[in-house]
Amino acid sequence: MADIFDRLLKNSGPLGQHRERAHGYFAFPKLEGEIGSKMMFRGKEMIVWSLNNYLGLANHPEVRKADTEGTATYGLAAPMGARMMSGNTDLHEQLEAELAAFVMKEDAILMNYGYQGIMSAIDAICGRHDVVVYDAECHACIIDGLRMLPGHRFVYKHNDVADCEKQLQRAQALIEKQQLGGILVITEGVFGMAGDQGRLKEIAELKSKFFFRMLVDDAHGFGTLGKTGAGAGEEQGCQDGIDLYFSTFAKSMASIGAFMAGPKKIIDFIRYNIRSQIFAKSLPLPFVVGNLKRLELLKTQPILKDTLWKNALSLQKGLKERGFDIGKTDSVVTPVYMKGGVEEATAMVMDLRENYKIFCSIVVYPVIPKGHIIYRLIPTAVHNQEEIDLTLKAFSETKEKLDAGVYKVSEIPDMANKS
Ligand SMILES: Cc1ncc(COP(=O)(O)O)c(C=O)c1O
Repeated sequence: MADIFDRLLKNSGPLGQHRERAHGYFAFPKLEGEIGSKMMFRGKEMIVWSLNNYLGLANHPEVRKADTEGTATYGLAAPMGARMMSGNTDLHEQLEAELAAFVMKEDAILMNYGYQGIMSAIDAICGRHDVVVYDAECHACIIDGLRMLPGHRFVYKHNDVADCEKQLQRAQALIEKQQLGGILVITEGVFGMAGDQGRLKEIAELKSKFFFRMLVDDAHGFGTLGKTGAGAGEEQGCQDGIDLYFSTFAKSMASIGAFMAGPKKIIDFIRYNIRSQIFAKSLPLPFVVGNLKRLELLKTQPILKDTLWKNALSLQKGLKERGFDIGKTDSVVTPVYMKGGVEEATAMVMDLRENYKIFCSIVVYPVIPKGHIIYRLIPTAVHNQEEIDLTLKAFSETKEKLDAGVYKVSEIPDMANKS
């Protein structure tokens, strides 16, 4: 019989294989100091483009005050128990009502984390005769939710509405054969890696041909898109077509928790059937108080979203003018596509950090195909033009070096923490 631990030690996984040289630098880096556009990394101050602190709420003075007061008043313990048993409060219900009103739905349910929340919601909603049709690039939490699905699922090519229609036809045929079940389409408001918005309006319009319900994970659209910040559905004028709207608080709200909003009776069904909330402790009150304050600022301070977009558009325009390929983004998420191996990518990132004091995240094989590199830049409302200009200059110079082969190294630079 094999020892499971032996197997794990022999193959540490696609990313884990680089651990010895990467840990603490390319993977698991520690950013220190106040959250903002500049933070400390290994003792040096860097311009940071890696945080989903879109609106700069992470350390907004009013947010810090609410977080502090919430903790002083309630501590992390309160309330004890699951919402259903002993962990419900007026403040939880107030936050749910405010979120629902903000995203123009009847009701909302809070979740402790986005990842387990959406997984568990999919589990609660779908039965064994139901069929899910979903975008190929949906986030890992949706894919993991679908692993629990007892029914069938059909994937459509990323953002390809014609293929979505084809998969809906397959789903419809299967349901007609079964004579049981319904269809749930799952997609995202903004795809977090490439920054392209899900084609929500066109997909919702397919309801004129097929009968289905639509669930949208708008983690990156909530607070950043739409006239009021209510997200990608508002931006595209199709919020009504979204039956279940989901967002985490981990991005523009710079917090912890998530919510799903929709028709009152359906949210009530989820409330009484979502295992990750029924069998888990309620979101602690300091988070609820902090999230109420964040939502208030998100609604009442449009300047935050406007500044975010000013910065994002300036960064994206500057990159395009310098000949960089930023793909199809139509959100503030700013990918920069380049060609090169994993080793080259890490050498370039090291140069950016050590010599240009720019900290950004890279995505390489096996997350994306071999030979490709994506820099993923997240502009925020707290960046400024000087930081954007310095970053653009650094990108131009390092790209020239990349093209000239300066970063061709045989191994990932050994930058691991040695303790
Ligand atoms: C699209 C999307 N959905 C869900 C999540 C998970 O949310 P949370 O961090 O609250 O678990 C993330 C990442 O945070 C995400 O990008």
